[in-house]
Parts: sequence; structure tokens; C-alpha cells
Amino acid sequence: MRFQRLLQMRRLATTAPLLRPPTQTKTTVRTMAGSGAPMPELTQITDNVQRGNYAALSDKDVTHFEKLLGKNHVLTEDLEGYNICFLKRIRGNSKLVLKPGNTEEVAAILRHCNERKLAVVPQGGNTGLVGGSVPICDEIVLSLQRLNKVLSVDEVTGIAVVESGCILENFDQRARDVGLTVPLDLGAKASCHIGGNVSTNAGGVRVVRYGNLHGSVLGVEAVLANGQVLDLMSNFKKDNTGYHMKHLFIGSEGTLGVITKLSMLCPHSSKAVNVAFIGLNSFDDVLKTFVSAKRNLGEILSSCELIDERALNTALQQFKFLNAPISGFPFYMLIETSGSNGDHDEEKINQFIGDGMERGEIQDGTVTGDPGKVQEIWKIREMVPLGLIEKSFCFKYDISLPLRDFYNIVDVMRERCGSLATIVCGYGHLGDSNLHLNVSCEEFNDEIYKRVEPFVYEYTSKLKGSISAEHGIGFLKKDYLHYSKNVVAIDWMREMKKLLDPNGILNPYKVLN
Ligand code: FAD
Ligand code: MLT
Ligand code: ZN
Repeated sequence: MRFQRLLQMRRLATTAPLLRPPTQTKTTVRTMAGSGAPMPELTQITDNVQRGNYAALSDKDVTHFEKLLGKNHVLTEDLEGYNICFLKRIRGNSKLVLKPGNTEEVAAILRHCNERKLAVVPQGGNTGLVGGSVPICDEIVLSLQRLNKVLSVDEVTGIAVVESGCILENFDQRARDVGLTVPLDLGAKASCHIGGNVSTNAGGVRVVRYGNLHGSVLGVEAVLANGQVLDLMSNFKKDNTGYHMKHLFIGSEGTLGVITKLSMLCPHSSKAVNVAFIGLNSFDDVLKTFVSAKRNLGEILSSCELIDERALNTALQQFKFLNAPISGFPFYMLIETSGSNGDHDEEKINQFIGDGMERGEIQDGTVTGDPGKVQEIWKIREMVPLGLIEKSFCFKYDISLPLRDFYNIVDVMRERCGSLATIVCGYGHLGDSNLHLNVSCEEFNDEIYKRVEPFVYEYTSKLKGSISAEHGIGFLKKDYLHYSKNVVAIDWMREMKKLLDPNGILNPYKVLN
């Protein structure tokens, strides 16, 4: 049989939990490496941030919040986990974490903060990769953790209404209970919140199929800086009544309002899911295989991811429980199909792989429709970013580039960094032209930093790409926004910010500089 080798899916070991929030505090250095590394120095100091003209938190404020939320939901101790970003790169010095339990409490908090001119950072699962979800100075952390309910899931319309602090994986499980699925999936699903996802307009691994959240989110409820509740909820796909204001809150990273609730259109979950993990000899073959996947898998193609050799090998070295079905190729692709007819889909994907092999574009691989094995293959992809983060310090870039130029920057960067870098690798959402370029070194290193930035942004800008495809701007990229947005657009962003948040209390030091 032609695909026999492919169809023999090798057993992969059971997987470990994905994400653990950082907890320990040790010594201070500027910025650091891997999970066991010491905590970085406060970002306000390392980056010489001038604190905005905000009021200082007083005991009276704390008492006010305790009366409003109850003492249990007002934290003043053990705040390290809320002050440090997932990458352990940005570290703030907040003295107060507030955990409201409903929209009215969020509104009352913001009303008070606005009157008092106290700065606030909204925080979801704190898995963001651009330093947007943690304080830079002493902003109050507004955690959405307790707004975690799925309010309704309608299997007829496919519309789900959910509070913003619901963990993505929990939301998806509730949707799956009635045969639906959340049209968003990413490696941080066990920790990130749906509100955080919407606030960053998170992409993930199924954009090629479902589009981004601007399309799937039907409505939002957001609390403005002055405490007003803006109800933009909608249960319809079509609603052209006036300006589409919900889009202002999708991807604005908590700088324009705090999302408390949203409605989302959830597609029916697919009966048949097949995943192929294939090895290829060149990026040219990767592109040919992508074109062939779009042409031949068409309506059932649900994901198309790329992992290069170095990215894969790092994950395999870091996480021994992973077991790649094939090895020895410079490029790997994970291609998923989701459809309603198992036999039909299996035939299609086998044909697609067989043809690719005959043409010499695909070298080897495995394909499976077994749900457990599908998950095990996905686990390899999901562990790639964590492998790099665990291993050492990692400069991370999330860029959109024209497909023909997609991988060149990885080679260019490898050359530029030479032996200063331990790993220069690329992986990402090929199907959406979104590359994750990662440059690793033992620890933060100013020389390598200067070789990488702003070069990577200039390079991207010359190709008319985006310097932030899906992670957002946050704190880490705010000085580079102009590489992807012109002056007029940035000026209007500032005007909109002033209009909605005249005192600038919502997530200061982020997105705009
Ligand atoms: P947080 O990190 O807490 O916050 C992110 C931003 O949103 C901050 O600016 C914060 O202020 C704001 N915010 C949070 N909640 C609200 C709210 N309710 N109202 C207003 N503002 C709010 N991202 C992708 O796009 N695609 C991926 O494939 C992907 N994979 C990842 C894999 C791993 C292993 C990790 C660690 C991260 C990954 N990310 C990915 C990045 C991250 O998970 C996403 O940006 C995610 O959407 C953040 O959600 P969160 O709840 O953790 O938000
Ligand atoms: C991913 O696709 O794995 C994420 O966006 C995280 C990353 O860029 O490393
Ligand atoms: Zn990604």
C-alpha cells in the first residue's frame, strides 16, 4: 500500500500539563532566561519608565474596595504572580489586586479609579507575550478571574454567551457538550481567558478555517474608564445599526475598556478530524504543499502549521514525554482536516499526501484520525514555544510576512546573530502568513538585542508585513508600532484613547508610547 508507512502512527507518550504561572521570586537581574531563572529587576527601573501623573494608592482606597468586593477579593500580599509576565521579562510593582465578581463591581472599581486618577491594568490569564497584562509601575491589577461563567450555549443558533474571565478550554468544553466548538484554539488554552483572547484578538491554530475574532465575536459588554457599562451585546450575525463599536474592544489590549461579557458564534464540532505530520526538505516544498493543501483539501482544511527543525528539536529535548513520529527533516508541517464524513476526509488527506510524496515534495510523515493520537500530535506543536522559553532566554517575534518571503528572515537572522545566539528558529501559522521567529541565548544579552531589534521590524516593514500578527503590541512593541502603522493612523488611535479614557487610567504604558 502506498501510504502504509504514513498510516502507521507511532505511539506517543502521555502528555504533561501545559502552563504553570510563575511564582518564585529570587535575585534581581535586568532580564532573564528560562523557568528556573531569577526574577528580573522591575521594568520601571530597567526601562527607565517615567511614572504617569497618577494618584498614589491610599489606605482609604483599599478600604473602599474591601467594602465593595469583600476582603477576600482585595489582595495586598503575595502579588508576584500578578506582577510578572509569562515570559518573566516584564515585572511591575502593583500593591493591589482586585477581583470583582460581576460587571457592576467592575464598573464601580473603574468609577472610583477614574475619580481618583488611579491607574489600572486589566488581567486575564496572564499568558500574553508582549508584556501587556502586567503593571509597569504600580498600577492596580484588575483580575477578571471570577467572571468565569458560561452563561448560555444555544445549539440551534450556535451562539454562546460567556463572561470574560472564563478559561478558553472550559468554554470550549461547554460548547462541545452540545456539539459545538469555540472557533479559537491556542497552546495557552488551559490558562488564557476568553476575554484576554478577545482583547488581544488572539489568532491561534484555526484562523485558516474560522477567520479571526472580529468575525466570530457577535457582541461585547465593556466597562469604560469612567465606569459606564457599554452594552454592545448582539445575538445576530447581521446587525448594521450604526458604527460597529464592538471592534474597538477586540484587539485593543485593555486600553479602551474592560470586557466583561461577550457573545460568540460557535461552529458545529467536526465529526471527523485527521492530522498529518509531515517532513519536508525545503521551504519551497513547504509552499508547494500548502498550495496543494488549499487546492485539494479545500473546505475541510482546518489548520496548516509549520515547525522548523531547530524549533522541533528544542521541544523534544526539553520535554522527553514528546515523541515525534518522524525526524531528520529541516521542515515539518502539521496539517489538519475537519469535516463531517470520516471516509471521505480520510481518502482526501491520504490522496493529498500520496500525491505530494509522488511529486517528491513530502518526504515522510504520519496521518491519524484517532482522537487520542490527534491530540498527541497537536501536543508536539503546542510544546514548541514552551520548549524555547524553558530552555533559555528567548527574543520572540510574531510577524506577518508575504508567503514567498516567509522563512528568509530566519536564515538572515541566523547569519546576523552568528555564535551569539544559541538557537534561531521559526515556526507558526503558515496558513495565515504568520511566522514566529525566535532568537535564543543563554541570558539577556544587549549585543544580540541590538542585532535583532529594530532590524526585524525594519525588515518586516520593508516587506509591508505586520510587526504583530496576533500577540498584540503591549509594552514590548509599543516603540515599534510605526513600522506597521502610519503617523495619521497612530494620531487617530491617540485621539480615540483620549476620548474613551481622558485620564489615561486604562493600561497605561501599553500600545501607544
Ligand atoms: P492576558 O495575558 O491576561 O492579557 C492580554 C492583554 O489583554 C493585556 O493587555 C490585558 O490588559 C488585556 N485584557 C485581558 N483581559 C481583558 C479584559 N477582560 N478586558 C480588557 N482587556 C483585557 N496568542 C495567539 O494569538 N496565538 C497563539 O497561538 C498563542 N499561543 C500561545 C501559546 C503559549 C504557550 C502562550 C504562553 C501564549 C500564547 N499566545 C498566543 C499568547 C496569549 O495566550 C494570548 O495573547 C491570549 O489571548 C492572552 O489571553 P489572557 O487571558 O492570558 O490575557
Ligand atoms: C504559538 O503559535 O505557538 C504562539 O503564538 C506562541 C509563540 O509565538 O511562541
Ligand atoms: Zn502563534
